[in-house]
Amino acid sequence: MNIQQILSDKIKQAMVASGAESDVDPLVRQSGKPEFGDYQANGAMGAAKKLGMNPREFAQKILDNANLNGIADKLDIAGPGFINIFLNQEWLAQNANNALQAVDFDIKTANPQTIVIDYSSPNVAKEMHVGHLRSTIIGDAVVRTLAFLGNHVIRANHVGDWGTQFGMLIAYLEKMENEHASEMELSDLEAFYRAAKEHYDSDEAFAEKARNYVVKLQSGDEYCLTMWKKLVDITMHHNQENYNRLNVTLTEKDVMGESLYNPMLPEIVADLKSKGLAVEDDGALVVFLDEFKNKDGDPMGVIVQKKDGGFLYTTTDIAAAKYRYETLKADRALVFSDSRQAQHMQQAWLITRKAGYVPESFSLEHPFFGMMLGKDGKPFKTRSGGTVKLKDLLDEAMERAETLISARSTDLTAEEKAAVVEAVAIGSVKYSDLSKNRTTDYVFDWDNMLTFEGNTAPYMQYAYTRIRSIFARASIDENALSGTIQLKEPKERALAVKLLQFEEALNGVAKDGMPHILCQYLYELAGTFSSFYEACPILNAEEDTKNSRLKLAALTAKTLKQGLDLLGIKTIEKM
Ligand code: ARG
Repeated sequence: MNIQQILSDKIKQAMVASGAESDVDPLVRQSGKPEFGDYQANGAMGAAKKLGMNPREFAQKILDNANLNGIADKLDIAGPGFINIFLNQEWLAQNANNALQAVDFDIKTANPQTIVIDYSSPNVAKEMHVGHLRSTIIGDAVVRTLAFLGNHVIRANHVGDWGTQFGMLIAYLEKMENEHASEMELSDLEAFYRAAKEHYDSDEAFAEKARNYVVKLQSGDEYCLTMWKKLVDITMHHNQENYNRLNVTLTEKDVMGESLYNPMLPEIVADLKSKGLAVEDDGALVVFLDEFKNKDGDPMGVIVQKKDGGFLYTTTDIAAAKYRYETLKADRALVFSDSRQAQHMQQAWLITRKAGYVPESFSLEHPFFGMMLGKDGKPFKTRSGGTVKLKDLLDEAMERAETLISARSTDLTAEEKAAVVEAVAIGSVKYSDLSKNRTTDYVFDWDNMLTFEGNTAPYMQYAYTRIRSIFARASIDENALSGTIQLKEPKERALAVKLLQFEEALNGVAKDGMPHILCQYLYELAGTFSSFYEACPILNAEEDTKNSRLKLAALTAKTLKQGLDLLGIKTIEKM
């Protein structure tokens, strides 16, 4: 259920009946303060202005025309024409009951879409680093949420699996296979890449061979393709280990690397040329964009084909956009990559649209994110200044979580403890990223994430187990509770309202690709539950009240668990 949606529809109807245009936005929002009701409609002022009416009088007309029987008890006009909406207690209780009983909270999107999510997207023969971590974690939370809302989600791992570097990588793989007859050193991809580069820079015969292999690879030579495929497979196998550890839903089936688009590129470039969009410039093919200016204030040139015939990152992204619309039949495509790629994405998509490859209705979005910084405010690096490998980062998280959990006195078995440590370690790394607005840089700080204080994974996971322990300690089966939810106390009512706002939080994530909206919601829900629990004793209450409160507790636990699951964070029953 989506209260905001229901109220928006109703108020909008009343506004139109009062003379507003049919596309008027009632601007229904959750209220910040109880005295302003549960929700506010702020659209009356703007609409009245358009109609040349007095805003308060127009607001009164809306109230006269509004049909909120059984939904709201009271509608107030405040200030210049704000409408405060006070929801009906029984209606809230009824909907809370429904949410508890319904599978998947009875949440369904009215218009499910096909949505491509381009995320993680590491590069072949390179270790995944922390920059890919953000894309992987944020993208996966958005994937899970969009799918939960009923959309058809296509995961696209846009792996960097093509380019001139493959000549040198193939030559080096060949050398290694000849010398050691094993793939041993490939376990360290970073070192492999570096060694290949060193040979390329220092050994002319090797470099010659590498250049030769690039040409062969591009012309589809069997041997080079086999070697190339080996490199891709080994890399993706490594990455899959990271995905599994991170509890990320990507599998090897989701790889849609840059090479997938190779067959489309010559045709696209020829087409851009025939449409007069791409012109020859110093031997290369360039699209000049008036919308972007270079340093001299002239239209910026975007190269789509190099002098030597090679294609570029931009050409591939034009093809990818076209493919996602034409072949995957998507309504929407989101690319999760860092903010430094913003201009690149905008340019690729502007060219895509100018060429008419996708219609206006096809939404291309770049939910970019900031950099991951160390505590010192500088880019996150190892102590010696190298890039931090994801694997090492997760190993450290495990160690630190072990320390955190061991410091608590609990009656966990060794097996239970191991599960808690793992959930807390991975959960902390993910949640600390997900809970921040992705558009800003983010400071990675172990001490702030691995703590039970504040908006952290351990706090949220503990909030969940605390509710579960109410049921466990009293040996109560939540599914066998009789009666219904009743809302008598203000704190019961407040908790019910918060619980019924789950779908609104999910829609926030879905609309803007911003998981921090869900984190913030869950954190507030945990707080609302705590105040309820303090004010309203559960187990000592008389039977009806006790069952009603247990049901509210059960719905809170169910919501926390589902919410954390959509963020890709595990819950445990005991910690
Ligand atoms: N492989 C790229 C990188 O490591 C990210 C790809 C993002 N997706 C895209 N369609 N350009 O920076």
